[in-house]
Amino acid sequence: MKRILFLLFTLILTGLFGVVVWMDTAREWTGYQRQFFHSLTRAERKGLAGGIHQVALEDLRRIDRCTTCHVAIDKPQLALAEQPFTAHPGTYLESHPPEQFGCTVCHGGQGLATDTKAAHGEVKHWEEPLLRGPLIQSSCYKCHGDVREIEPHAPRLVQGMTSYKQLGCAGCHTVNGFGQNVSVDLSDMGEKPWQLLDFTFVHGEERLSQWVEQHFQEPRRVTPGFRAQELPPGEEEIYPTFMPNYGLNEEQARALTVYMLSLKSQHLPAAYVHPPAPQEPEPVYASSVEAGKAVFQKFGCAGCHGLDGVGGRRSWNAWLGDEAPSLVPVAHYYDRQTLKEFIRNGRQPVPRSNPARPTPPLYMPAWKDRIPDAQIDQLVDYVLSLGEPLPGSPPANGAPQAAGGNP
Ligand code: HEC
Ligand code: HEC
Ligand code: HEC
Ligand code: HEC
Ligand code: HEC
Repeated sequence: MKRILFLLFTLILTGLFGVVVWMDTAREWTGYQRQFFHSLTRAERKGLAGGIHQVALEDLRRIDRCTTCHVAIDKPQLALAEQPFTAHPGTYLESHPPEQFGCTVCHGGQGLATDTKAAHGEVKHWEEPLLRGPLIQSSCYKCHGDVREIEPHAPRLVQGMTSYKQLGCAGCHTVNGFGQNVSVDLSDMGEKPWQLLDFTFVHGEERLSQWVEQHFQEPRRVTPGFRAQELPPGEEEIYPTFMPNYGLNEEQARALTVYMLSLKSQHLPAAYVHPPAPQEPEPVYASSVEAGKAVFQKFGCAGCHGLDGVGGRRSWNAWLGDEAPSLVPVAHYYDRQTLKEFIRNGRQPVPRSNPARPTPPLYMPAWKDRIPDAQIDQLVDYVLSLGEPLPGSPPANGAPQAAGGNP
């Protein structure tokens, strides 16, 4: 009886051992490594180690095992044409050696995992899915504070930062303490848990990048019900988000998305961070109007008043025709002093066109605590100049057009 029991026990143990061995050899990465080693000559194989490859990056608090499958990523002479056996494009691994930087600090993904979907972070519970294509550029900013230094390698990131300034996003949003707080603070947009966003009207997969990019292309599709809780049933559609639709093409929307994803509050050890360049001296302007135009751009007046102040953004139920006003005709009904005081103090809230309906979402912020007085004077010169014909152009006839406005 004892012998039979013993035999049974041994059989079970051997069986279990077999299952473990089988599970191990059937792992995805072992298949890739086998395939890779098969492609090599005996001489090439010399010195290469199989098994799990990992780098532990204590400073970055990461453990990356990506090279377990991406076996030739730093060995161009052995690389094959298909993934995961390709060599890395460019010179990124020379300036950021894998043993010091790993992979996930630029690519996202889940460093410890060893099957493709999990490693690429393309699973429900992981916040950092693999960044593909131009989205990889959203990783550079956390270490390269002065993006001009790396512009040739991160053109989309630089483009996104430039449009952020040009389109006047700072008129409604704050990033790292600069900007208005009319709407959401975007300082850590790149870390926003996607579960906090509503994907009801977003096409494709539930990724932060998808939401942000589609929101730029069609804000009123992605967030139609904004403020709906305050509204009588049936009126939701008349009061969607007041985030403007800038009519961006795909490339422009993606560039802004790259910039948004790059906004993170995490701090990396100093050894990894390139300090930003010292502040450039203020440029010298030919006239006060030119200087005022730069102030207008810097503080994001365009966010509400349109590029060059020529068109207002939607502001439901505002007394001046449902939008923030164009600034072109301002010279006709303000004198310098009144205009300056208006800009200094703003107006909040803006009067309603229909008293029975909600307060208009946009208001004119007070600028006196944000813009130095001398610059407000320049702004006044600029705003007063908007209605004047450009030197050399025929005199304007009739009312100024609200061109460049937001439908
Ligand atoms: C289990 C094997 C495996 C592991 C581990 C793995 N990958 Fe991959 N990787 C693949 C395969 C297979 C592909 C090609 C299919 C695809 O693109 O999903 C690929 C493709 C890629 C691509 C190209 C994507 C594109 O846009 O074409 C990148 C970048 C990448 N992996 C990065 C990583 C990073 C970073 C890690 C570590 C966090 C990692 N991989 C871990 C197997 C793996
Ligand atoms: C300094 C940031 C950085 C680091 C670190 C980095 N990469 Fe990349 N990786 C990039 C960039 C940027 C690209 C896109 C380059 C291009 O398209 O020209 C890229 C492209 C790739 C691709 C090719 C994707 C394609 O479209 O074919 C793979 C695969 C890849 N990386 C894997 C890795 C792995 C594995 C590691 C770690 C050993 C790693 N990378 C480390 C920045 C980085
Ligand atoms: C974790 C921090 C970190 C990240 C993320 C990072 N870099 Fe770097 N990068 C560095 C450091 C540090 C150096 C300097 C290496 C040296 O000079 O020894 C460097 C060097 C470089 C260089 C070479 C500069 C030169 O003068 O030799 C380029 C180009 C570059 N990075 C581009 C990028 C791009 C593009 C990205 C995003 C895809 C990126 N880096 C992401 C930290 C980072
Ligand atoms: C968050 C949106 C927003 C931003 C940013 C903004 N404004 Fe306004 N602005 C408004 C609204 C709304 C009104 C209309 C106020 C009213 O109806 O009384 C207005 C009114 C004005 C007026 C008076 C127009 C008129 O016809 O009465 C001037 C001038 C003006 N803004 C200048 C500026 C300048 C200069 C900046 C940048 C420093 C700026 N605004 C930034 C929303 C904004
Ligand atoms: C006139 C004010 C206004 C301007 C200008 C504006 N936004 Fe917004 N933005 C909003 C409002 C309101 C929301 C919140 C409702 C929504 O998500 O649509 C928002 C939401 C966002 C969000 C999502 C934030 C989150 O966490 O839900 C991002 C990202 C964003 N804006 C980026 C930008 C960028 C980039 C620009 C410039 C191209 C810009 N915004 C210009 C009003 C504005």
